[in-house]
Amino acid sequence: MPGTGAGMHPASTAESSETTPRQSARRTSFGSLSIQYDDRVLTPRAWTSAQSMWAADVSHLGPPGRLLELCTGAGHIGLLALSAGSRDGVLVDIDPVACRLARANAEEAGLDDRVEIRHSPIASCLTDDETFAIVIADPPWVPDTQTDRFPGDPLTAIDGGADGVDVARECLRTIDACLHRDGAALLQLGTVPQANLLGDWLSEQGSPDLAVDEMRVFGDRGVLVLLRRPGSDGR
Ligand SMILES: C[S@@+](CC[C@H](N)C(=O)[O-])C[C@H]1O[C@@H](n2cnc3c(N)ncnc32)[C@H](O)[C@@H]1O
Repeated sequence: MPGTGAGMHPASTAESSETTPRQSARRTSFGSLSIQYDDRVLTPRAWTSAQSMWAADVSHLGPPGRLLELCTGAGHIGLLALSAGSRDGVLVDIDPVACRLARANAEEAGLDDRVEIRHSPIASCLTDDETFAIVIADPPWVPDTQTDRFPGDPLTAIDGGADGVDVARECLRTIDACLHRDGAALLQLGTVPQANLLGDWLSEQGSPDLAVDEMRVFGDRGVLVLLRRPGSDGR
């Protein structure tokens, strides 16, 4: 069950040797933020500040409500988006080390009183009645037959299943369960074919009630997809 107050989910507050800072602790600038991370999580990628900035842009015009980030890692994408506005946020990750780093980064950014960190799988991170105005999602997207191309990255952070979009589909189901009818979601994927695959899936009966509104391609680094409810007047 997710926590309801500000701060870390109760299940994640206990420090253990697995989640405490380690020798490989590093720091990088991400937009206006200084972000700590280590070799147990994905290294922050500078280009992904575009996801934060796009989320901040749609957030200015969006309905009232909180921002949700799925697959937050060290928290930098969601925190940078939140720092550009005044919404509260919930950041979710299945990895306890990522959650600890996200909490430290929220504190350092002065956002800890606006941010709740949930240590949870995507599929069970929400309570039944929760609604979010803006959702950011950065799931693993490497097909499972290709993860050995990235030996330095934690498997949980990159393994997207057979076609690379298994976890992205989970994100879209959770987004469908909580997105405000005039809200917006920004999903990060690896390639245009992956975005098209998900777009086709969304047009099938029984799929999440979401549609691709716009796609932005960042060379071979990744793709950002803006999703809204079909017929929404959120623009
Ligand atoms: C591609 S990484 C992105 C992390 C961060 N946004 C970044 O840019 O470095 C994906 C993240 O999703 C998390 N993750 C993978 N499967 C998950 C699941 N089923 N539920 C919640 N988080 C998950 C991983 O632990 C990892 O932190």
